[in-house]
Order: sequence, then structure tokens, then C-alpha cells
Amino acid sequence: MGNVEMALAVLAKMFLRGCSPNVHTFTSLMKGYFMGGRLCEALDLWNRMIQEGSEPNTVAYNTLIHGLCSYGKMVEAVSVSQKMERNGVFPNETTYSTLIDGFAKAGDLVGASEIWNKMITNGCLPNVVVYTCMVDVLCRNSMFNHALHLIENMANGNCPPNTITFNTFIKGLCCSGKTEWAMKVLNQMRQYGCAPNVTTYNEVLDGLFNAKRTREALQIVGEIEEMEIKSNLVTYNTILSGFCHAGMFKGALQIAGKLLVGGTKPDSITYNTVIYAYCKQGEVKTAIQLVDRLTKKGEGYPDVFTYTSLLWGVCNWIGVDDAVVYLDKMINEGICPNRATWNALVRGLFSKLGHLGPIHTVDNILANGEVT
Ligand SMILES: *[C@@H]1O[C@H](CO)[C@@H](O)[C@H](O)[C@H]1NC(C)=O
Ligand SMILES: *[C@@H]1O[C@H](CO)[C@@H](O)[C@H](O)[C@H]1NC(C)=O
Repeated sequence: MGNVEMALAVLAKMFLRGCSPNVHTFTSLMKGYFMGGRLCEALDLWNRMIQEGSEPNTVAYNTLIHGLCSYGKMVEAVSVSQKMERNGVFPNETTYSTLIDGFAKAGDLVGASEIWNKMITNGCLPNVVVYTCMVDVLCRNSMFNHALHLIENMANGNCPPNTITFNTFIKGLCCSGKTEWAMKVLNQMRQYGCAPNVTTYNEVLDGLFNAKRTREALQIVGEIEEMEIKSNLVTYNTILSGFCHAGMFKGALQIAGKLLVGGTKPDSITYNTVIYAYCKQGEVKTAIQLVDRLTKKGEGYPDVFTYTSLLWGVCNWIGVDDAVVYLDKMINEGICPNRATWNALVRGLFSKLGHLGPIHTVDNILANGEVT
């Protein structure tokens, strides 16, 4: 559960009662350290385990390898797997799939392929997880035809692809702007017995909105409803920001309404997008009310993005002098303005002085906090 401190307290009790920790004890603690982001302590513990004479088993090695991979330390992870073999503990399919997943996440096709070959040489058959990691790394290297070929091989062999395999492929295609192909895969995956799930639709929606293919995105939104796929927060946030980027602020606000009615709990992305939409719509008063409500809520709302949208809205629709009030408020709440915030204000001032036309520069604030 990530509660390492409590685990250490139990360990101390063990010592007090004269029980010595064994490889299971050390492995559990190491896993906790890795989960808690405490890499150095995890490695210290491993060394201590060796010093105490506990022989690491497959689970212990796999835990160490998994931990190293999750920190992107692939060289170290591979070296541990080699050491493991030298010590007569044989890597199993978990070991290989962990390493391949690590290389896939790093986009390292050569590394992933080497482990794949080694796995086959050692008589371990790839499972669906391993295949999916290979699809992932092929996509990250823009080798989409190879990825498709691999999926076809899976279907023809005895390791059929699953929804996650297709989601990985679709995500890869969308990230490269190949939305048409992604849509085709969405329609084909059922033939392989894989039903698209909400994640599949989220990926396709994100890809379509990013490619500014709003009409097709709207069709997908309709399809989600038709198929009675339950939208999650990611779905709503994707549609919300997609609508905003397409300038469909009214539609965005309607989606926000749907989210609330459907009982999904909004997060800061939702609120910030809604406030942005209100400001773009000129409904700055409503945006202010919402920001006030969020301030009472605490929990890290509002943040610099909230205030930047608000300041832009106030500058543009009410006046720079009022905007300065919110700048003070923001600073008093300990929220540090960023470059985009200052830009919104400076543009506001210039336009008040009549040096520039109206301000239309806030569009990228939510995306990357930059205004030119
Ligand atoms: C491989 O090792 C993991 C522990 O890391 C274990 O959970 C799994 O069952 C093992 N797989 C096989 C096929 O023995
Ligand atoms: C949908 O697939 C993803 C993997 O791409 C998985 O993580 C998620 O749990 C699945 N969702 C549902 C509701 O089955």
C-alpha cells in the first residue's frame, strides 16, 4: 500500500523478537521503496540482503529489475538479469516482459529486440503482454506496418491480441497524427474479438481533436453514447479541451454540465478548461464566481492556469485595473504568476493604450502555458 514507514516499524519489531528477515521480507520492503520513489534505499536494502546471506530468488530479482526499469535504468536492469543467470536463478517470462516493457517505454527498439531474441533462445514463449510491448516500441519508432504485421501474427498464432494490444497500436497511430488509420483499426478490432473500451475511444478522440478533425471527433462522441460506453474523466476532459481548441465554447460548457450530471468528479483540468471557456465566451463574471468557489474548496485549486485564464478574461472583457486585483489575489494565495500570466497582463495594458488590437493570444495557455 506504499506505507513503507509502517513496514519498517514492523521490521523493527521483528528484530526485537529475534526473528530474522528473509528474502521475502527484504523483497517486500524493496518493492515498497521502489513504489515510494526511494531508489537509493531500495538498492541499499538489496545490498544488505546479500550481506546478510539471503539468497535472492526469482521474485526478488524480478522486483529489483522491475524497480530499475521503472526508473529507466535499463543498463543496470539488464546487468542484473545477467547476474541472475550467472547465479543459477533463471529469468522467467515476467523477467523478460519487464525488461521488454522498460525498453519499450524508452522507445529503444534494439534493446527490446535483443531481449525478445534472448527470451526465444531460452525457450520462453512470448505472451500477450510481451507482444503488446513490442507493438508499443514499434509504434514509438514509427514502424506501424511492422506493428500491424506483429498483431496479425499474434492472431494467426496461439497468442491472440487483446484490447490493450489494439489500444497501444491506436495510441501510437494517433500520436503520429495517423488518425485515419487509427479509425480503421478501431473498426477492425472487433473482427479480432476485441471490443473497444473507453480507453480506445479516449485515444481516438484525442488524436482527432489534435488533428483538428472535429467533425469525426463528434461522430466518435456520438458512437460512445450509442455503444453505451461509460465515459470517464479522461473522456470528458478530452472532449472539453477539444471543443475549446475548436472554438466551440458553448459545446464545451454543455459537456461540463453532462459530466456533473453523470456523477463524474471533475479535476483541476476540468475546472481550468471550464474557466477558460467561460472567459473566451465573455462570461467572465461566471468564471470569477467559479474561481471563488474553487478557492473555498482548497485542495490545490485554483492554480496558475486558472488565474492566467481569468486575468486574460478580465483584461479582455472588463479592464486591466480589475485584472490587477486578481493578480494581487493570486499572489496573496501564494500562486506564482508565470510568463503567460504576465503576457496576458502586458497585452491587456498595451491594448488599453491602443497600441495593439484586441488580445487573441490566450489559446495556447492551457496547452503549454506560453503566449507569444
Ligand atoms: C515468474 O516470476 C514471477 C515473480 O516475479 C512470478 O510471479 C511468476 O509466477 C513466475 N512465472 C512463472 C511462469 O514461473
Ligand atoms: C481498457 O483498456 C485499457 C488498456 O488499454 C485498460 O487499462 C483499462 O482498464 C480498460 N478499461 C476497461 C473499462 O476495461
